[in-house]
Amino acid sequence: MLNYFRHLVALHFVVCLVAHCTGHVRFVCPRPQSPRSDVFQQLPNHPLDGQCGLGGSVQFDSEYKEVSPGPFTIRFEETVVHNDSPFSISLHDFDNSEKSCLLLDHIPHNNAAGVRKQCHISRYPIGHCSESTYYITINIPNITCKKCYLQIKSVHVPNSNQDTRCGNNSSCQVYYSCANIRIRPTASGHGKGLESCQKYSFNLLGIWPYRPQKYFKAELKSDKSASPVAGAAVYDEVLNQIHADLPRKVFQTGLMKIGLSTVRNSNTTPPEYDVIYSSPVSPHDYDQSRINIKFRDVPDNVSRMLMDGELYLNIITTTTEYIGVLDMKHEEFEKGIYAPMHTQYSKGGWLSSPEFLGVKAVYPAATYPTGPCSPPSRHYISHLHLRDDLTDTVGALAMTVIDDRLHIFIKLTDHKQPIASIQLISSQLSGLLPLNLPVSKLKNGYLFTVIQASKWIKEIGTLMFLKKVEIRTVDNKLLMDGLIEEGIYSFMGDIDEVHGLGIFQITKGRFLQYTVIMEKTGCEKQSVLLEGPESIIISNITNQLTSKYDDYLLEGYIKELSSDTILNLWLGKISLIMKCEENKTFTEVVSKLTRPGKWYCADIENEHCSVVELTPGGFGEVEGEAFVQPSGLAAFVLDRAKVLQYSIFIGGVIKRGLLEATLTDEDHLILTITLHRSSAHDHVFEARGQLPQSSPDLIKNLLLGRLNLHVTNPGQVTKPLFGALPVITQSECIDSKTLVVGEDKEKWSYDSSPFDTIHALVGDKLVFIYTANTTVHKFKTREDYETCNLQNAVKLEGSTRDNITWTVTYILTPGSNYFGSDNQCDLSPPFKVSVSVIQTDKIVSESRDDCTISLYQVWRQQNLNRYDGPNVVGSAIGGLIAGIIILFLFHLVERRHQNKHERTNSGFQRF
Ligand SMILES: *[C@@H]1O[C@H](CO)[C@@H](O)[C@H](O)[C@H]1NC(C)=O
Ligand SMILES: *[C@@H]1O[C@H](CO)[C@@H](O)[C@H](O)[C@H]1NC(C)=O
Ligand SMILES: *[C@@H]1O[C@H](CO)[C@@H](O)[C@H](O)[C@H]1NC(C)=O
Ligand SMILES: *[C@@H]1O[C@H](CO)[C@@H](O)[C@H](O)[C@H]1NC(C)=O
Ligand SMILES: *[C@@H]1O[C@H](CO)[C@@H](O)[C@H](O)[C@H]1NC(C)=O
Ligand SMILES: *[C@@H]1O[C@H](CO)[C@@H](O)[C@H](O)[C@H]1NC(C)=O
Ligand SMILES: *[C@@H]1O[C@H](CO)[C@@H](O)[C@H](O)[C@H]1NC(C)=O
Ligand SMILES: *[C@@H]1O[C@H](CO)[C@@H](O)[C@H](O)[C@H]1NC(C)=O
Repeated sequence: MLNYFRHLVALHFVVCLVAHCTGHVRFVCPRPQSPRSDVFQQLPNHPLDGQCGLGGSVQFDSEYKEVSPGPFTIRFEETVVHNDSPFSISLHDFDNSEKSCLLLDHIPHNNAAGVRKQCHISRYPIGHCSESTYYITINIPNITCKKCYLQIKSVHVPNSNQDTRCGNNSSCQVYYSCANIRIRPTASGHGKGLESCQKYSFNLLGIWPYRPQKYFKAELKSDKSASPVAGAAVYDEVLNQIHADLPRKVFQTGLMKIGLSTVRNSNTTPPEYDVIYSSPVSPHDYDQSRINIKFRDVPDNVSRMLMDGELYLNIITTTTEYIGVLDMKHEEFEKGIYAPMHTQYSKGGWLSSPEFLGVKAVYPAATYPTGPCSPPSRHYISHLHLRDDLTDTVGALAMTVIDDRLHIFIKLTDHKQPIASIQLISSQLSGLLPLNLPVSKLKNGYLFTVIQASKWIKEIGTLMFLKKVEIRTVDNKLLMDGLIEEGIYSFMGDIDEVHGLGIFQITKGRFLQYTVIMEKTGCEKQSVLLEGPESIIISNITNQLTSKYDDYLLEGYIKELSSDTILNLWLGKISLIMKCEENKTFTEVVSKLTRPGKWYCADIENEHCSVVELTPGGFGEVEGEAFVQPSGLAAFVLDRAKVLQYSIFIGGVIKRGLLEATLTDEDHLILTITLHRSSAHDHVFEARGQLPQSSPDLIKNLLLGRLNLHVTNPGQVTKPLFGALPVITQSECIDSKTLVVGEDKEKWSYDSSPFDTIHALVGDKLVFIYTANTTVHKFKTREDYETCNLQNAVKLEGSTRDNITWTVTYILTPGSNYFGSDNQCDLSPPFKVSVSVIQTDKIVSESRDDCTISLYQVWRQQNLNRYDGPNVVGSAIGGLIAGIIILFLFHLVERRHQNKHERTNSGFQRF
């Protein structure tokens, strides 16, 4: 151990002596293999020891992060800042060291970074270098990779000389940090490995401004002119295009065509050429001094000829023809070759130059926060309606707020009317001007943009924040509008190519409201589903599919969210999935829902919260340890039949042993739950279950928020995880229900047995669907049920239309009801079911109107009620109070419309 430290110190001493302490870098999230940021390579004397400079000491299994394919935000930090040192990120596999995939190259340095004292170079805690932290979103390829790692390089280019480049084999210093990850692919990525992410351009999420570009020049000669003309071309591998460039001076007039050609016969004089591409020249190809022509979709064989110096540029004018071979002059941002570079970053560590923000952004995805390593961000949604039809959804907006910027997605169904402006509007009292979105970016009814909006973001979480969307036509007529709410969303497809947008909200009745707008697919048989982990279907919403102009629209509510669904929603593990089956082949578009914001649980008074965070000792996460502490989340639901459902998730468990949870009130142990190791995810423990017949005492304690949950590892001395349960109540929005016995399985059949006890309410209908040789017998007593004694049982006669399938519908009565099938009742497992039925006063014949009010509107209303106005404007307060009273009355009379649209409440426009 001592030796190890001596070695470290010595090493560090050498580094600083030799190279005046250059750019040290390490991952923060995903967690690095080691907290060391001083691992470097400098050829020929200081090669890297092993792939990550840590020799063979890396143990994959002790720490790695599980990641999903697609955009993924990573966090890294510099412990010693070295200006102008670019970064590069690649993906490697421990089991296949031959190959690697370049994910993002030539990431410019933040020269405004600084290092604070708390920022240690080689030991934990990590993540304290706040002024030299970087966040950037990369794209995880859709492959199977069980033992992968991400590698970041910081290349120190000596900037003594402008032309210095650092290549593969140069003597430049390169610092390394690696972070272990396991990629869990979607269905289409199964069985694929690193060989399918070799093409760098496919690993990008747009037009990366620092992508490789090859520059060519051509001496264009003609019979008619003695001196050659200098032509040029750029080959862009990512865009897959050749961009020809000519001086305008020379070709002021008479220019007709520009082409690319190859030599057919070089023996003739002049040689004969084959024109393989040609493009007429139009006025918009001219700028002030140059003429630009783009040749798109260049096939591989043509780009290869370009590299080999076999491609010619030819120019046809009205009087003559010029030709010259394209010779490579130089390359920029070439793979593996680095030059000094830097750009502008935000204080939070995100790229913030015009390439990434605003109208001119070419790679907005780099700053989109997503995945477990991104800092917390808040998500907003809006249902867009036509001006004169409040019930008719014609578009959706989704927005993520982070740092000082907004990421905005808009999907409109009816984009035939020309749109002149899209504005986000704050409350009038805020004094903030409307925020204009770049309409020019709206393509095919779809817009994605990132804008800096610090002034507006300052008001986040208050009534002054952005409140509504207004979309206007050229003559400034309001075309569509919608209220902005904090909510949940998911975009379908890739971030740079979205095929649909789903927006979600939780309502006062604890329903999950959904609105999905997606492109028509032309798919023979498709399903749209909400799925939890392991492809468990939460809701099949395919039946809600309706045509809306050129798109599909799906709208509705998912009622009775189970504790499992709520837990997975809060863990960010629910996906919106479009499945398409065609000729027995399946394709799917999978998109994750954003996590619900903290406000659902923290900011709304008198509204129920179902989730509790479990942290060591009940305090926040302990940072900076060699291993991340386990932490967890649990959800509790008191369902319609007063069954207490629970679902518990504990992640980051590296120590051995089983976990045990206890639910206690102030003095009693209520329940002991043994957690089981997740079969699908490592380091994860789970439990789910239910506590039927919750006693009045338990229900009272739930209502008073007196319960605590502790999770311990009895075999290990570790700090228990702890969380105090929030107030848990039953929903006020309960409908009567038809319960089909064995619905998820094979209905009422032996194959479905054993049956779980069914908990139901008086008035619910119980339905048995069965085939020949099966009966529905209702037992008289519990004893008869237990012993399968059919003597006193009543046979319920079913109805049939086809003599194949029979149906019995039974209206449930209070107490316990017992059913079995005659000749199979006492088989193993037994073919019988018990149904426990309770009386409730909560049944509402139809869904009550206020069940569908969004919780955001509840929050807004509470804040409006509390708001006592800016002190300076006395008269405004009078107006405000009157407004609140009007609003309140209004709320009683016209809840539904108040909820649907704020404009019905025009007497109260200031907010
Ligand atoms: C998964 O991989 C397939 C092809 O390999 C790709 O078309 C699809 O978009 C990928 N899905 C995700 C979520 O990355
Ligand atoms: C760097 O090395 C790799 C393999 O070691 C090679 O494929 C690549 O072409 C090299 N790049 C340069 C610029 O030499
Ligand atoms: C790298 O440089 C060393 C010494 O300068 C040389 O021996 C070696 O062949 C070079 N490797 C490559 C791949 O160019
Ligand atoms: C490139 O390949 C395509 C087919 O693969 C062929 O049709 C075309 O002629 C080739 N182009 C050249 C310039 O060789
Ligand atoms: C979803 O529902 C539709 C229509 O009811 C059905 O055709 C489809 O098979 C269902 N999909 C799944 C995956 O269950
Ligand atoms: C599906 O099969 C039919 C005939 O079997 C064929 O006409 C059709 O083109 C196929 N569709 C696709 C997408 O392969
Ligand atoms: C019903 O039972 C009879 C005799 O026990 C048997 O022959 C027949 O195959 C059974 N039918 C079904 C559908 O199970
Ligand atoms: C069902 O069976 C009954 C009695 O055996 C018979 O009268 C009736 O026609 C049958 N119905 C069908 C649809 O086969």
